[in-house]
This record gives sequence, structure tokens and C-alpha cells, in this order.
Amino acid sequence: MTIPSFTVCIGNARLYLGDAYAILPTLGRFDRLVMDPQYEFDNSGGGEYRAARGASDQIVEEGLDQGFDHTIINSLLFDAVVVFCHNDQLPKLLPYLDGNYHRTVVAFWAKPNPPPHRNKHYLADTEPYIHAWNRGHEPVGAHHDMHRFITAGSQPSKLYGHPTVKPEVVMDKIMTNVGGQSVCDPFMGTGSTGVAAIKAGKTFVGIEKNEKHFHTAVARIKEAHARQQEAA
Ligand SMILES: C[S@@+](CC[C@H](N)C(=O)[O-])C[C@H]1O[C@@H](n2cnc3c(N)ncnc32)[C@H](O)[C@@H]1O
Repeated sequence: MTIPSFTVCIGNARLYLGDAYAILPTLGRFDRLVMDPQYEFDNSGGGEYRAARGASDQIVEEGLDQGFDHTIINSLLFDAVVVFCHNDQLPKLLPYLDGNYHRTVVAFWAKPNPPPHRNKHYLADTEPYIHAWNRGHEPVGAHHDMHRFITAGSQPSKLYGHPTVKPEVVMDKIMTNVGGQSVCDPFMGTGSTGVAAIKAGKTFVGIEKNEKHFHTAVARIKEAHARQQEAA
């Protein structure tokens, strides 16, 4: 399938509709990659629990359970990366990041409203994100920021028509700790990373291949930009 291509500029944000694997290599360096790519996990079955898992069918339909190509994270181009993942991805993703970056840590955010377990997985109520950095690009933040364990209800998929929208409070904390001035999210979804980057006064570049989610991201980022302008 050919993915359509399109670019929208909003203040300090540039949003691409298209394929991250084709577009990102043409964009050069960014201080930070903050990304929430496809998780890789078995989304089949579920019996009586499946209905309570909300967006399972949409996750499968949109291929959001198929994983991603780790080599899109290039430590020569991005001095630090934050990447969300399923806990089943940790055994493969951690060695890749550890082999490419100076330090690699796993952090977690907690969901008070987790979906029922999928296929005997652990940790339905916590989700990891990995933060890896080159020398000189360590995490930033005050003591209490660094130690805060974020608890946030996952966003209902009906809010933005996307099954895996990341909560604003989680993205705000990450944006505080990741440092850097230019941020790229090559798997932008509905633009949660972009909204947090704009709130933090950073420049943002996002890529999303799904046209519907791309337009949701455009609307959210326009709104975040307008709020920033009003506050200035
Ligand atoms: C886990 S979701 C991100 C959700 C986002 N964090 C949010 O809060 O809305 C991953 C997104 O990557 C997109 N995606 C998957 N493969 C892609 C590709 N090759 N290029 C661009 N986007 C892609 C999917 O359409 C999906 O919206």
C-alpha cells in the first residue's frame, strides 16, 4: 500500500503524514527522540475478558501489536531517546539500546484502570518506558521530578479514536526529564508527544502514517500552540 505524504507546519512544530522509515532518515539530527512505537505482544483470544479490553480489535486492525524496527533509533543522530514498549519487548530492546547508548534505564508509569491480562502477561497495570542517552545528555530535573512515579488513567480510545493515546501527565514528566530543545516522534499517533513538547517550549517534528490519526494530531497541536500563544 502506498502511504500518502503531506506536511503541516504549526509554530515550532512540523508534522509529516507518511512512513517514518522513509521520512526520518531524510530529516537529520534531533536532540531527542521520544517515541511510542507499535508494541509487540500476542493480542489474540481473551474469551470473556476480550470485551473489557476495549480497543483490542482496533490494535490488531492497525498493526499496533506488530513491533517496530529498532534500527530507527540511531544514537549518532539522536543523543537521547525515550521509547515506550510492552514488557515483552524489554529482552530485545534493552540490549539494542545498551549497545548503542552510554546509559540505559527502565522507568514505569502506573495505570489505575488496567485492561484485563492478555495471554498471561505480567504487568497489565504498569507500563515501561526506556530512557537511553549518550554522554553529556543525561536526564534533567529536580530531585522530586526524577523520583516521581506517575499514575495516570489510560486515555479512553474514544476520546481521540486511537487505542493507545498516552496520558498528558506522563508525557509532561518525560518532556521535563529528557532535556534537549528539538524533539522528534516518528510514530506520533494523535500527537501526545508534540503537545507536551510545545507546552515545554521545544521544537517538534512528528511523523504518522495513518491519515485519521495524523489529522487528530494536527488539531491537538494547533490547540496546544494557540494556548501557548495566548499565555505568552
Ligand atoms: C502506539 S501508537 C502512538 C500513540 C501516540 N503516542 C498517542 O498518544 O497518540 C503508534 C503509531 O505509529 C503509527 N505508525 C506505525 N507505523 C508507522 C510508520 N511506519 N510510519 C509512521 N507512523 C507509523 C501508527 O499508525 C500509530 O498511530
